[in-house]
Amino acid sequence: MSITATLTVRRGEGGQMTTTSSYEVPYTPGQSVLDGLRYVRAHLDPTVAIRHSCLSANTCKECMIQVDGKVDYACTARLEPREMLLEPLGNKAHLRDLVTEVAPPDERLAHALAARAKAEG
Ligand code: FES
Repeated sequence: MSITATLTVRRGEGGQMTTTSSYEVPYTPGQSVLDGLRYVRAHLDPTVAIRHSCLSANTCKECMIQVDGKVDYACTARLEPREMLLEPLGNKAHLRDLVTEVAPPDERLAHALAARAKAEG
């Protein structure tokens, strides 16, 4: 018998959390919550919105979510063989499911201006 973890994800769009989906994923000691979420997207439900970039290097900070009510990085939070509640950050603009706008407004503006300058040559 294999050991599993259950990831319960609060879902919705634009701050309207309309549903909760639960996914049973294989558990192996040492895995991260992000590993479990990537399993969900690859094998169970590709519609779950998550964001990550550096894949466990803990440098991009894009995977920040709430794990059992506490803010954490999905890539460093350990997957556990039990039900885990995953929610978007409560203090950031909500986009969809677990994705929030994590970059500070001035960084978003600087990035947009740099991209525009590059496009304009
Ligand atoms: S994926 Fe980059 S900090 Fe978690």
